[in-house]
Amino acid sequence: MTTKFAYDKSNIPKIYSVARHLPIETMNLWLKTIQDSLVTPVETILDLGCGEGRFSLPLATKFNARVYGIDPSKQMLSTARNRDKAIKQVKYLLGCGEHIPLAGNAISMVFMSMVYHHFEDVDETISEIRRVLSNHGYLVLRNTTQDDIDQIEFLNFFPKAKQIDLQRMPTEDEIVAKFKANGFNLLSHHILEQVFAQDYQEYYEKISRRGLSALALISDKDFISGLRALKRYCEQQPMNTKVREGIHLFVFQK
Ligand SMILES: C[S@@+](CC[C@H](N)C(=O)[O-])C[C@H]1O[C@@H](n2cnc3c(N)ncnc32)[C@H](O)[C@@H]1O
Repeated sequence: MTTKFAYDKSNIPKIYSVARHLPIETMNLWLKTIQDSLVTPVETILDLGCGEGRFSLPLATKFNARVYGIDPSKQMLSTARNRDKAIKQVKYLLGCGEHIPLAGNAISMVFMSMVYHHFEDVDETISEIRRVLSNHGYLVLRNTTQDDIDQIEFLNFFPKAKQIDLQRMPTEDEIVAKFKANGFNLLSHHILEQVFAQDYQEYYEKISRRGLSALALISDKDFISGLRALKRYCEQQPMNTKVREGIHLFVFQK
């Protein structure tokens, strides 16, 4: 089963902003935790695999920095550009981890959210990150890992999607080993229990949009039957219960 995924050949760019929206409290938690991990100010940020820029403008605002959002999906970039066209601090460019269209030493922090498992070539990407990062620059990685797939509730209803994520997600040890082997020091590591939905009804609605690539990779039949079971489960959960999921945040320094 292939786990490679081309966003522009899917429906995801049309529904990403609703399906993957993060509540403001969640966004603030990520930004604050990143800020607390840095020891020097950052002036230029690369949001690598920025998608439609979910984090790009919030990063520019929080750090008062210039942000380059880079992504290979023209459709995801088009949403980002349309929304942020009046913002001079943020620039969106077509590119990918393996070929970053920026000069060497141009960036003080590279941020990557939920993109590590999409790279065609992780080693090539890390070498590109080293090239664009200035000395002592930061690499901030936000990703799910193989180690904690079991705590992602909805995946229990879509066994084939779970299998895909188990196959393609890195382990925590793998991430740390890869960056250490490439000359990065680990400054901090957290698993943030982020709120993904305010209650189980919203959780069901978000998952039903099929905005996660693992759900787009399974058959319609598997998706529909999983969704039916997820609906029953969500209806049985107590009202006003926030739905949380643990996502890793690694902060490395070059
Ligand atoms: C799950 S989305 C994450 C988007 C954004 N970082 C966020 O958190 O909202 C994954 C993104 O990775 C991008 N992507 C896929 N292959 C990539 C590559 N080789 N280099 C950089 N980005 C890539 C996709 O186009 C997609 O926009």
